[in-house]
Amino acid sequence: MRFQLLVNALLAATATASPVLKNREVTTVTVSGTTATSYPQPASEIQGFPIHTSCNGTERLQLEKALWDTIRISQQAAQHIYTHGNSSALYTKYFGQASTAEVIGWYEKLVHGDHEGVLFRCDDIDGNCHQEGWGGHWRGENATDETVLCPLSYSTRQPLEAMCSNGYTVTNGALNHYFAADLMHRLFHTTKIGEGAAEHYADSYSECLQLALDTPAEAVRNTHSLQYFALDVYAMDVVLVGEGCTGKPSEEEEDSHTPASSSASSSAASAATTAASTTTAQVASQTASKTSSAAAECHTHGDGVVHCV
Ligand SMILES: *[C@@H]1O[C@H](CO)[C@@H](O)[C@H](O)[C@H]1NC(C)=O
Ligand SMILES: *[C@@H]1O[C@H](CO)[C@@H](O)[C@H](O)[C@H]1NC(C)=O
Ligand SMILES: *[C@@H]1O[C@H](CO)[C@@H](O)[C@H](O)[C@H]1NC(C)=O
Repeated sequence: MRFQLLVNALLAATATASPVLKNREVTTVTVSGTTATSYPQPASEIQGFPIHTSCNGTERLQLEKALWDTIRISQQAAQHIYTHGNSSALYTKYFGQASTAEVIGWYEKLVHGDHEGVLFRCDDIDGNCHQEGWGGHWRGENATDETVLCPLSYSTRQPLEAMCSNGYTVTNGALNHYFAADLMHRLFHTTKIGEGAAEHYADSYSECLQLALDTPAEAVRNTHSLQYFALDVYAMDVVLVGEGCTGKPSEEEEDSHTPASSSASSSAASAATTAASTTTAQVASQTASKTSSAAAECHTHGDGVVHCV
């Protein structure tokens, strides 16, 4: 991935001859006798996400690794659908009777989309990281394609290699337990990738399953459903083949944003996240609209509760 990012940086740096189309190749297409037209072509390989110079060496390495993992689980999710279509039980569990193209499309955008300007930064430029339990936030109206990551992310998010370990199950684990799925969520918040369409329609695991039954058209663009599906597929197809680690709902289903308490430090983070949710709930209740809610990182859910990551 580092190598890939370097290659992409070099490509971007040398592609100055065509400033409008940037690092995309241009192919001339002749349509039966009419005049030739130029189209930008879809990226033929994974494009790196830009990482701001404010990220120190350690942060950059962790972030590059986690972004690679995000692409890895997205590729697997898309491949699973290409292979099994709607005959996959995992597909119908999360997306009901919806057709497959939109779901594939969201994952493909993460892998092959134009990522120019989809910037990750570490400078706490909006001054939000001091808030307890904040792992980062979408910059919202300040920069709709940018994400700030706070130091907490680097000390709490788990690598993809740890999938299905330490008691983690897809059903009961937090969606931000693994850095890869956490970043998938953050990427869908950017305008360039999520287009304001991949959004929050249902949040907890059980709410996502219900959404698949009731409103498949929303399930296919529900950020949390896309995260759950990618995690479930990766566990089932790659980690514990044919078995996975879906798990069963515990009696009191954990909030999907609460980090799994697999260690003392993440229990502390869990408590801190809950505390942050409470304080920002007051702020967010003053701002009615979803897009302008105080910290864009906090989401007003259907039940009126504000959740922060
Ligand atoms: C799967 O897709 C086909 C069309 O390709 C459709 O007829 C069928 O109802 C779908 N099955 C489910 C379970 O959504
Ligand atoms: C945008 O910037 C303003 C001013 O710096 C800040 O108060 C606000 O919290 C920022 N918005 C987000 C979503 O961080
Ligand atoms: C890089 O930032 C992290 C916080 O995310 C910090 O813990 C670490 O000490 C920093 N590394 C250097 C070399 O400054």
